[in-house]
Amino acid sequence: METLLLSAEEVKSLITMEEAIDAVEEAFRLYALSKALMPPKVYLCFENGDLRAMPASIMGYAGVKWVNSHPENPGRGLPSVMAVLVLNDPSTGFPLAVMDATFLTSLRTGAAGGVAIKHLARKNSEIFGFVGCGKQARYQLLAAMEVCNVELVKAYDVNKRAEEKFREFCESLGVECKFKELEKVCDCDVLVTTTPSTKPIVKSKWVAEGTHINAIGADAPGKQEL
Ligand SMILES: NC(=O)c1ccc[n+]([C@@H]2O[C@H](COP(=O)([O-])OP(=O)(O)OC[C@H]3O[C@@H](n4cnc5c(N)ncnc54)[C@H](O)[C@@H]3O)[C@@H](O)[C@H]2O)c1
Repeated sequence: METLLLSAEEVKSLITMEEAIDAVEEAFRLYALSKALMPPKVYLCFENGDLRAMPASIMGYAGVKWVNSHPENPGRGLPSVMAVLVLNDPSTGFPLAVMDATFLTSLRTGAAGGVAIKHLARKNSEIFGFVGCGKQARYQLLAAMEVCNVELVKAYDVNKRAEEKFREFCESLGVECKFKELEKVCDCDVLVTTTPSTKPIVKSKWVAEGTHINAIGADAPGKQEL
């Protein structure tokens, strides 16, 4: 038997956002039925970022993703989040595949946001607020567009270049994007936060009742967005 090696381009060619949303929804369902194994992540925390191991087993497969989060990486020409995934056969432990998981992480995280919007946001949600306009904001938007009608994006980022690039991305998808101050961005149907902040940035008094929040960024000890 040979272990399959999959590059980022090969992984990209194999799965769409629509398929990822279906897969993530099914994974959540099986986990809720105790038909999946997913122990807590193991973290290695450093001064300027962290690495995590994320093991899981579901539907006759097992695997572990090894992924980092280093917020200052874009300034060094690297993504903030990069990953590799090893897929194993649980019956023998054989490593079936080793694949680039940077794209997969972006897609999967976006898809989880999409599943949350599908089941938890108001059905007529159309105004989306984005706090943080980096890579993950794009995947959250792509997923949102699969599950509802995104009429307007209001966006805020401390980095004005990131805001501008996000607007270009929105417009490439035919979605209007307006830059607003933080408080006004929070006045929306669905609020998506994708920053590496370690201090709360969204205040509860800015968020109207019934607003759905996808808080994505605070994924490690010491991080907080709300
Ligand atoms: N929950 C998950 O499964 C998951 C998955 C992937 C990424 N993440 C996390 O999401 C966060 C963003 O990841 P990314 O890949 O989009 O990173 P990124 O570096 O591409 O984008 C982050 C953006 O946030 C902006 N930002 C930083 N502080 C801000 C603040 N106080 N207010 C407004 N904007 C601010 C930055 O300028 C940048 O544009 C990270 O913390 C990452 O670890 C979580």
